[in-house]
Amino acid sequence: MKTKYYALFRQCSAVFTDLAMIMDNPLVNLKHRRILLGITGGIAAYKAAELTRRFQDHGADVRVIMTRSATEFITPLTMQALSKHPVHLDLLNPDTESVMGHIELARWADLILIAPASANFLARFASGHGDDLLTTVCLAAECPVAIAPAMNQAMWAKTVTQTNRNTLLARGAHILGPDEGLQACGEIGAGRLMAVDDLILRSSELFSTGTLQGKTVVITAGPTREAIDPVRFISNHSSGKQGYALAEAASNAGAEVILVSGPTHLDVPERVHRIDVISAIDMHDAVQNVIDRADIFIGVAAVADYRPKLAANQKIKKDQNGHQSLLLEFVENPDIIKAVATRPNRPFTVGFAAETQRLETYARQKLVDKQLDMVVANNVGDTSIGFNADVNAITIVTNHTSQVLPLMSKRALSERLIELIAAQISHQG
Ligand code: PMT
Repeated sequence: MKTKYYALFRQCSAVFTDLAMIMDNPLVNLKHRRILLGITGGIAAYKAAELTRRFQDHGADVRVIMTRSATEFITPLTMQALSKHPVHLDLLNPDTESVMGHIELARWADLILIAPASANFLARFASGHGDDLLTTVCLAAECPVAIAPAMNQAMWAKTVTQTNRNTLLARGAHILGPDEGLQACGEIGAGRLMAVDDLILRSSELFSTGTLQGKTVVITAGPTREAIDPVRFISNHSSGKQGYALAEAASNAGAEVILVSGPTHLDVPERVHRIDVISAIDMHDAVQNVIDRADIFIGVAAVADYRPKLAANQKIKKDQNGHQSLLLEFVENPDIIKAVATRPNRPFTVGFAAETQRLETYARQKLVDKQLDMVVANNVGDTSIGFNADVNAITIVTNHTSQVLPLMSKRALSERLIELIAAQISHQG
């Protein structure tokens, strides 16, 4: 027992050193990110090759769309070999559409970066055209779109180009550069493609919203296992996916995140510190060890309400007592989230509730019973969402409000939820 608690203590104290180191490197934001690189026609197109490699070096997956004029400057074969995926060229090409259609491409991307972006591309995108694959995908995109212009300095300075730039900025596009300096045409001025290093850094920064900067978030995730004997346990179907997605979203919003996780098969998200636990009691103790630092606590874990009163020391044999039935007595586990919510100086406390009916009613009951600030009710009546799925649909309940977020990926849903929590906290002052 002593060894177990010593191990837990070591895990908890390691949290704070690790977090400090990780927060210093914004490029870790790129790990596992899906970057759709749009290349348009311009002499700087050759730099897209280096850009692809650098994104990959930081763990991103890159797919490429090229306009027809881009292919005059760098070959699709080069970009295919580097990205390790077929290059997308045409809006209605049956071959590439059958691999991944234009709408799927837009949905696939976490970020669309157009580098280099020509004056012609800026004009077509600013005026809402969807007359080739790149502009159509940009129109269909719900992810951030970043544009790195590159052109002759006089073209960049023209009023019409500046108007297009401002239109795109006003619509939410991120304009990266251009840099100033000697241009391929021999002129000097603003119009060079932003340096590859800076493009990589600025792209990674787009994944960090900063709304939870300076906050510490403790999240529980996954199932707990309650031992019956050394080889058997009682558990549930939680995969940890929802809790891990929230940990990633909170971290991307700038928070320090401590994830107290029951047994799962998931990789720990970048910059998140995970404390591994098995049972509800382990989870309770681990949370208590770190909760003093927390500004926000989110209980996503499916914690077993009860555990067998006695876990047998040896494997229970089938014919042990000559009986054909086995009776187990259960005792109640500690309520982890209630213990957090009833502390003096408690953090903003968010509970989850998996329900099959009367979502809002049951969520409100939990809000009151457990003294929470917010309850997120999952509709798990449909088994394709909630437990162990990649998607979820939720109703978020607070004392005075209720809001439905319809079916979407756990990742997208987590980003929305984190922004709502951040808004609530800033509202409370
Ligand atoms: O892990 P996934 O496969 O992605 O699935 C996600 C999920 C469905 C498990 C998750 O979204 C979810 O709904 N988690 C809560 C499950 C649930 O119904 O919990 P509950 O009603 O037993 O508990 C309500 C709240 O109290 C939860 O925040 C829970 O973490 C907390 N609790 C419960 C019991 C206990 N002893 N201690 C607790 O802290």
